[in-house]
Order: sequence, then structure tokens, then C-alpha cells
Amino acid sequence: MRTEQRIYSDQAELYALAFAYRDVDDEVSRLVGWARDFAGAEPQAALELAAGPADHALEFARRGARALALDLSPTMCRRAQESAAAAGVSVEVLCANMVDFRLARPVDLAFTLINSLAHLHTLDELISHFAAVREALAPGGLYVVELAHPGDFLGRGPRSTGVSQPWQVERDGVTLTTRWGLADDPYDPVRQLFSASVEFQVARDQAREVVHATVVMRDWTLDEIRAASRLAGGLTEVACFGDFEGGPVDGPDAWRAIFVFRRAP
Ligand SMILES: C[S@@+](CC[C@H](N)C(=O)[O-])C[C@H]1O[C@@H](n2cnc3c(N)ncnc32)[C@H](O)[C@@H]1O
Repeated sequence: MRTEQRIYSDQAELYALAFAYRDVDDEVSRLVGWARDFAGAEPQAALELAAGPADHALEFARRGARALALDLSPTMCRRAQESAAAAGVSVEVLCANMVDFRLARPVDLAFTLINSLAHLHTLDELISHFAAVREALAPGGLYVVELAHPGDFLGRGPRSTGVSQPWQVERDGVTLTTRWGLADDPYDPVRQLFSASVEFQVARDQAREVVHATVVMRDWTLDEIRAASRLAGGLTEVACFGDFEGGPVDGPDAWRAIFVFRRAP
């Protein structure tokens, strides 16, 4: 059984701030649009898997859906509960493993964002995950998975796996500069595991603090994702996009890989 990666318990606040640059409202609108396109209706119940701060689940709750957020880290689960209470919305928070969770009532949309499937390190875990998602979905329900684009880690040029340029987020008097991975961080090519060294530089008033962590991430190819979903059964790929705007995954501007799967009606 996988144990939680410490960055999500020890550095939950910094993680949340580092990724606060995303346009959650827009991404949720895209998810709703895909539900309309591929399931024929807006989701009444939505589940964010590996939810972390659960910002997307919170947005679904704000829009009136039954919202659920699942995460392995008790710290992240607590944070999600506190954020929901502060926002005055209801989110059902489940502290569970996305490999083998079960819901009491099915949802019509499940989603796993920002490459969180990289936290599943083996094929067996991935297949079991797809089977659990299938069981969590109502007939005709959708599963949306956002992954790193394969161009980030495949090819014969210099390796760029998971390595990003440092980025900065400023909020409430705190400036956070995040670096996620270095080109020469350890890589296990047999298991496709990248041990990304993460650095958070926090500047608050005159004080400066640097926090280091390591996150072990599995590179999943698109066909491995497809194969695992087929082995699990009951899910059909209905789209694969290269970004949230719905561009093609093999287009020149593609920078993410976003699958949409549908459970058989
Ligand atoms: C990239 S972060 C959060 C992603 C969040 N949905 C977002 O969009 O910012 C990944 C999260 O996955 C959680 N996680 C890692 N392995 C997990 C597992 N096996 N089951 C459930 N959650 C897991 C971590 O605790 C962490 O909060």
C-alpha cells in the first residue's frame, strides 16, 4: 500500500500556494462543457481524486453540485474541509487511496488533475485505480484525467522529464518561488520513476525560507493509460486533448494530455 508523499502532509500550504496560479473557475467550466458534450448533461455529482487542496471540488460545490474530494493525505483532507467550511459550501471529503476506494453513492463526473496519476507507481495500481473509478461512476458517467504531455519525458533529445522553469506566485504578502525537478535528478528508466527535487523559496516581509522535498513521480505513456483502462474494463476513451481548450494532443501547441473516458451507459 502506498504511503503518502511527505510534501503533501508537511508542505500542504506551500503546495496549495505554488499551484494557485491555475484558473480553477475556467478549468471547472471546461470539465462541465465536456460533461455536456460527452455525457449529455451537466454533472450533478463530481468527485476530485488526489484532490489536494480540492479547489476544483470547492468550485463544483459553489456551482450547486454535490462535490466530493478524495486524498490520501490527512493533512490535505483537513485543509479541504477547512476551505469548504470557510467558503460556506459542502464538500464530502474522503481520506482514502485512489487505488482502491469505494463510494457510497456514484457520481457522474470524476477527475484527476495536474498529473496526480504520477503518484501511482505500478501498472497494477493503475489498473486497480481505473476499476475503482469505474465503480464510482454512474452509467454514462465521465472520468477526466489530466497528465503531463509525453513530450515532457519522451524523445531522444536531452531529458526534460518533469523539469519546469521556476515559477512565482504572490498572495497575502507571501512570495513563493517553486522549482519542480532538476534535469539531473535521479531517474529509474526501468520503472519510469523520476525523483523530482522540489524547492520552495518563501519570502515574507523581510524573512526568507527555503524548503526542500523530493517527489517520486511515474511517467505514464498515453498507451499505458489506454491499456490500463481497457484491462480494468467498462470505460471507453471518448477524447484525448492537448490542453484545457480542447486542442489536439498531437498538435504543435499541446502541453498536457487530457483523457476523457466514459462508463458504459
Ligand atoms: C498534485 S497534488 C494535488 C492535485 C490537486 N487535485 C490539484 O489539482 O492541485 C497530488 C495529491 O495526490 C495525493 N495523493 C498521492 N497519492 C495518492 C493516492 N494513492 N490516493 C489518493 N491521493 C493521493 C497527495 O496527497 C496530493 O494531495
